[in-house]
Amino acid sequence: MLRGESLAGALPRLSAGTRQPPVAPWSAAQRGAAQALCFETLRGLGRARALLALLHPRRVSPPQLEALLLVALALASLPEPRPYPDHTLVYEAVQACAAQPRMRGARGFVNALLRRLQAQREGLLAQALTQPEARYNHPAWWIELLREAWPAQWESILELAALPPPMTLRVNRRWGTREQYLERLRAAGLDADAPAGPGLEQALVLRRAVAVSELPLFDSGAVSVQDASAQLAAVLLDPQAAMRVLDACAAPGGKTAHLLELADCEVLALDRDAARAARIGDTLRRLRLAPAEVRCADAAQPAGWWDGRAFDRILLDAPCSASGISRRHPDIRWLRRPQDIAALAAQQRELLEALWPLLRPGGRLLYATCSQFPAEGAEQATSFLARHGDALALAAPGQILPGRSPERDGFFYALFAKRADATA
Ligand SMILES: C[S@@+](CC[C@H](N)C(=O)[O-])C[C@H]1O[C@@H](n2cnc3c(N)ncnc32)[C@H](O)[C@@H]1O
Repeated sequence: MLRGESLAGALPRLSAGTRQPPVAPWSAAQRGAAQALCFETLRGLGRARALLALLHPRRVSPPQLEALLLVALALASLPEPRPYPDHTLVYEAVQACAAQPRMRGARGFVNALLRRLQAQREGLLAQALTQPEARYNHPAWWIELLREAWPAQWESILELAALPPPMTLRVNRRWGTREQYLERLRAAGLDADAPAGPGLEQALVLRRAVAVSELPLFDSGAVSVQDASAQLAAVLLDPQAAMRVLDACAAPGGKTAHLLELADCEVLALDRDAARAARIGDTLRRLRLAPAEVRCADAAQPAGWWDGRAFDRILLDAPCSASGISRRHPDIRWLRRPQDIAALAAQQRELLEALWPLLRPGGRLLYATCSQFPAEGAEQATSFLARHGDALALAAPGQILPGRSPERDGFFYALFAKRADATA
């Protein structure tokens, strides 16, 4: 990830054993452990980097050694109770060094550096945490954007991003109610809470995260994993039987599936990314839902895929910074650059402009992003309304901030209706 690759791309490759030199595929337990170590480190990367700079002001090389130290420092500087006792952490870090020919010579250095951290932890931490990147574990520009946008909430937003997110389920309405599924969960030794609020009628928040293979009836389609905020999308769009619905940025199909759980509608699901688009069909098959028409296409270029028949509903779950789900993907904050936000906002605007003419008069378009930057949310919606006299804003949540309701991710929703007297 420090070289610029997302964890979602890197981890499966490692665990499939395609690493150079070839290594055996990892067991499920090893995969889980590697992912947990990565996540914990990235949630504390600002802090770990600041500590490393204090302990060793010169550059550490090779990069693998720097990565190993960042993992160890992130874990060693967590508040108590820490996941590993100090001696285990030092021992394992030195062992990891010994296992790599390029790092073998650094065993003494790693041992001494980690012991120094442990001996002077309080003082070093106090010094490191004076820097915002170390305190909030996000890049400085990201912290600034949040502080400007949400003067009262930015700190709680960042503090929540430091905690592992809850695992939330959406019970397939065609299978049964959430109460029925809760019984199945309890019979399997799991427990969950039913969050209140409009649009969350099928949601269950697990008391502890588990592998999907442990979820009762997962393979036969009783349930999906989907954050509470994301579950509002299909409900807000309110599809009805026989309607033509466009899901413009659909992969891997979480919201496509929810639309089909709610109504026997006719869905065209697009995604520009072929590998991701292929997952939409898998999602629908697992859930035993009617198929959607899936196409790999650029939603911003309807000339390439639209047959000229207007849609009753359009879901634009637009590509975005994903700043609202940074606790689920703690690598994103470190991979994004400040200039990405304006580029993403331009893409979102282009998609809105391209899709609006495809909506029939009286139809609805839902604009959604999993962002908490106003450039991708409220500002986008306001400028869209200013440009389109035939658009009406319907009631929608607007900006959802996780601070107000910890089980929710940061999301933005605007719902537009096309005036019934407008010409398509
Ligand atoms: C936020 S994700 C969609 C998540 C999906 N709606 C779900 O609930 O499972 C955004 C998706 O938009 C796709 N995308 C980005 N730009 C696109 C474009 N111009 N046309 C079609 N798809 C696009 C990306 O490949 C990505 O899969």
